[in-house]
Amino acid sequence: MSTPSPRRLLGKVVVVTGAARGQGAAEAAALAREGARVIATDVHPDGDCRPLDVTSEDDWARLAAWLREAYGQVHGLVNNAGVTWRARLGDVRPVDFDRVHAVNVTGPLLGIQHLAPLMPPGSSIVNVGSTAALTGHYPVAYTASKWALRGLSKSAATELGPRGIRVNTVHPGFIETDMTASAAPAFREANVRETPLGRTGTVDEVAPLVVFLLSDEASFITGAEIPVDGGLTAHGGVKSVSDALRPGESGHGRTPRPH
Ligand SMILES: NC(=O)c1ccc[n+]([C@@H]2O[C@H](COP(=O)([O-])OP(=O)(O)OC[C@H]3O[C@@H](n4cnc5c(N)ncnc54)[C@H](O)[C@@H]3O)[C@@H](O)[C@H]2O)c1
Repeated sequence: MSTPSPRRLLGKVVVVTGAARGQGAAEAAALAREGARVIATDVHPDGDCRPLDVTSEDDWARLAAWLREAYGQVHGLVNNAGVTWRARLGDVRPVDFDRVHAVNVTGPLLGIQHLAPLMPPGSSIVNVGSTAALTGHYPVAYTASKWALRGLSKSAATELGPRGIRVNTVHPGFIETDMTASAAPAFREANVRETPLGRTGTVDEVAPLVVFLLSDEASFITGAEIPVDGGLTAHGGVKSVSDALRPGESGHGRTPRPH
């Protein structure tokens, strides 16, 4: 009989935002399976989540005070909560632009500001970006916010490195959750077309990376950005060229000379 592998996050206290559903719920479950004491939070809490609106300084201050009292320290933070807004450049209203920024950027900032003081060396922060943070994606408020989150992550990695705290970013592609279910079918189809693996992803394909980045196995990784996107951002927009010239898929591909 094989010995069970040791649980990688045993003894670590980890906060996950936006954990009531979608990727956050999967991450919270995966972290708990690895032995972490998970504090799942959400602005729409269910039975297993503590209430926390990431845009509220008071909420973060309350959570930090409770964590200090209950555990004395925190070893991990997953800034997962996020909202999208699909208005395009010509239509987006500043009020919506600011609202998306508040959740997707100011939220993670507040989380880091309030919890980093409770983090001992070896702690780890994971920010959940998006392939929108690596491209000129059309929902401009969302895209701009996720690019800003990249900047926050880089600054935080630099600032907190000397204290032994790591900060990394994961960039999911199209993952099947309520967020993507709310998009038009054409959005899904176009994403699949642009994705070399030819399909969408699941929450259980993002959570293991978050677990790894929170674990000591990632002890020399900080300031990194890792796409989980089936190759969507790897081809830099040239997948259609590759597809057009693939033998058997179009007349061009059958020419004997390579192009
Ligand atoms: N689903 C995708 O394809 C995809 C792709 C790239 C990035 N992302 C990012 O992944 C993260 C998780 O998204 P998801 O797909 O699971 O979405 P989701 O909509 O299923 O879940 C998001 C969760 O965040 C919570 N939330 C929203 N505003 C909040 C606030 N102010 N405070 C606290 N919690 C709040 C919601 O209540 C919800 O439970 C987000 O940051 C999102 O931008 C998602």
